Amino acid sequence: MTMLDALNEIETSALSALEQVTDADALEAWRIEYIGTKGRIRSVMPLMKDVPGDQKAAVGKRLNEVKNALENGFKAKQGSLGTGTGRASGPAFDLTEPGLIDTRSIGKEHIITRVRGELVEIFARLGFVVAQGPELEDDEHNFAKLNIPDAHPARDPIDNFYVDNPNEVSTPRMLRSQTSTVQIRTMEDAVAKGWGPPIKIVSPGRVYRPDTVDATHSFMFHQIEGLYIDKGVSMSDLMSTLLQFARAYFGEDADVRLRPSFFPFTEPSAEFDMMIALKPGTDPSWIELGGCGMVDPNVLAACGIDPEVYTGFAFGFGIERIAMGKYGIPDIRMLFENDIRFLQRV
Ligand code: DAH
Repeated sequence: MTMLDALNEIETSALSALEQVTDADALEAWRIEYIGTKGRIRSVMPLMKDVPGDQKAAVGKRLNEVKNALENGFKAKQGSLGTGTGRASGPAFDLTEPGLIDTRSIGKEHIITRVRGELVEIFARLGFVVAQGPELEDDEHNFAKLNIPDAHPARDPIDNFYVDNPNEVSTPRMLRSQTSTVQIRTMEDAVAKGWGPPIKIVSPGRVYRPDTVDATHSFMFHQIEGLYIDKGVSMSDLMSTLLQFARAYFGEDADVRLRPSFFPFTEPSAEFDMMIALKPGTDPSWIELGGCGMVDPNVLAACGIDPEVYTGFAFGFGIERIAMGKYGIPDIRMLFENDIRFLQRV
């Protein structure tokens, strides 16, 4: 018998035998007889050496065909009997069984991102739209047009991250130290393109100051700036806006106050404080959330807005302070250390 005849015979008898198989034991017996390591397919392989050279390729191909047909037939039968793992019956895996260790951990927004979104949402309800400005700024937007004169101590290199040498470059670049820069950029844009005033924007973003890190200071933090310019905007508009914000975010009984202060870019200026207990269980005290005031006429004029026609208010709050007050976080460093236990809790 030639190898080809032997292969044909094995295929025919194996497939018809497979049809008779109705349980796992019979299937295992069939596997051993036909495709096992000592099975019939293996037993014909030595005949290959007697096949004439010019037929070897064709016979080899046929060998593979028969082998594949038997193996596929075996798998199909396994599937139809449900004996995948060799068990007598039942599915191979219980896909509904929980794993021993749950290694998934679902991420969420960082608390600062969340608070920023909440603040923007509240101010949007009061009619403020979001404006943005660059973190790498120049002297003009960080100082000059904000009415901060050349010799002012706020420009001291020790209090700012200059990128260029301020003594050598006329408008040195720096990492902005306040989001008030965006007031200037927005007013300039409104005048240049003719879309305002009225102007009503908030601008959340990062600011940088070379402060020593402690429980209340960080060299990078976030502020949210607000600016409202129109005809007839007054100090009482500022006060009612801030009160509405505080009540919307901290609750109806939020206790706030304005304390007289000074900023070069506002006149009059005030500090905005709120009664907050930073440490859970302790008595609340006045916490400064930021500064505010009526936009100084010099600032309006520097941006091309006539201070005889328009007035406006501005404010700039620390987002970390607000987050700490809202969620009872006693130390600003917790917001940046990214301890997973803290991040999951807040
Ligand atoms: N830019 C001030 C700061 O960083 C905060 C501030 C005060 C912003 C008064 C204002 C403002 O818009 O009117 O300390």
